[in-house]
Amino acid sequence: MSAILTVENLSKHFTLHDQNKTIPSCANVSFTVEPGTLSALIGPTGAGKSSVLKCVYRTYLPNAGSVLYRTDAGETVNLTQASEHEVLALRKFEIGFVTQFLHCLPRRAAVDVVAEPLLVRGATRAEARDKARGMLDALNVPERLWEVPPATFSGGEKQRVNLARGLVARPRLLLLDEPTASLDPRTTDKVVAILQAIKAEGVAMLAIFHHPDLVARLADQVIELAPPVVRQTLSEATTQ
Ligand SMILES: Nc1ncnc2c1ncn2[C@@H]1O[C@H](COP(=O)(O)OP(=O)(O)O)[C@@H](O)[C@H]1O
Ligand SMILES: [Mg+2]
Repeated sequence: MSAILTVENLSKHFTLHDQNKTIPSCANVSFTVEPGTLSALIGPTGAGKSSVLKCVYRTYLPNAGSVLYRTDAGETVNLTQASEHEVLALRKFEIGFVTQFLHCLPRRAAVDVVAEPLLVRGATRAEARDKARGMLDALNVPERLWEVPPATFSGGEKQRVNLARGLVARPRLLLLDEPTASLDPRTTDKVVAILQAIKAEGVAMLAIFHHPDLVARLADQVIELAPPVVRQTLSEATTQ
């Protein structure tokens, strides 16, 4: 089977113009992701794990390297060069991203927050809400909360709504950035079972997990990022 994602020599840094400084983020990262597998990104804090995901999702524009994505139609798109329009279309239909935090409109009920990706893809409201309820149930969100806006939910409840929203529409490539960081062990077990089921359906995943245990349980491939080397400028080096 051929890769759905091929990342080659990906590098990203940030330039702080006012301080004339460069912050390295990830450097020379290369790997491939196959359909129906989960690849885990590991490495110490600051190694650039989240930045790699954001470069793939094109939240960040990489400074070097290529991110080749094979679409459902069988075309290869270099995400570092794709137009905003192409990127938005891929996010709508093919590439999903679940972070630790839920970002949603303040007065919308949890079930509608979860149903939204399905509505965007053309499902009817009834069908979308039905699937959303199923996913909220699968992730242990109590039924009394389904019609309530998540603004007042606990951290763990918000994270479950966030996961439900990310998993409900079955993207072809799913990016996960510590999606289980504030879940109890019972819900974490449910998430593991759902991710295994999604994998069996052929979804490709690129994930960062807070707990090494989850990497051991879910990963088919482990990609280790080394912390980037901070290069000092000559003037800084000589004044220390
Ligand atoms: N938007 C940004 N602006 C400036 N620096 C950033 C930005 N995003 C990430 N960084 C820096 O890039 C480095 C890698 O961060 P990150 O990708 O979040 O690492 P990890 O997820 O492995 O902890 C860190 O030094 C971080 O401060
Ligand atoms: Mg991170």
